[in-house]
Amino acid sequence: MKSQLYRNCITQIESILSEENDLIAALANVSAILHHTFSFWWTGFYLVKKENNQTVLVLGPFQGPVACSRIHMGKGVCGSAWKKNETQIVDDVHKIKNHISCNEFSNSEIVVPIVSKDAVVAVLDIDSKNFATFDLTDKKYLEIISNLLSKKNWATN
Ligand code: SME
Repeated sequence: MKSQLYRNCITQIESILSEENDLIAALANVSAILHHTFSFWWTGFYLVKKENNQTVLVLGPFQGPVACSRIHMGKGVCGSAWKKNETQIVDDVHKIKNHISCNEFSNSEIVVPIVSKDAVVAVLDIDSKNFATFDLTDKKYLEIISNLLSKKNWATN
């Protein structure tokens, strides 16, 4: 069931990416597709950007409630996924110290890095109101989506 829903999402995402070269426009629609397919609590992207001589994750396109706009390397689940270049699955965000609470209703989370030329360029972050929402099936399909985004040649304007 979950796998089939992800496969449907991937078909839609491939179709969008075949026609859209603008990163923000594509990420906005990818977050909408995932968010509304699964009724997640928060679904969105943080983009690695240079600001004032440091590199930070800056909030990108998302669906859901207001979120924190900057995350530093190693901080929170997003910053850990960025630092380790590895998908993070958290069954209960209240049990880990290194969690940035943007919203009291979030109970579990998955963060998938998006990698280009061996460097993390963004992360896909999804929060759920339920505990232990995310498993290896989510990881598998979200990493496929991350790879589709990595492979794309984005417009540079
Ligand atoms: N909880 C995340 C911060 C981002 S929000 O969930 C949208 C974290 O610990 O990195």
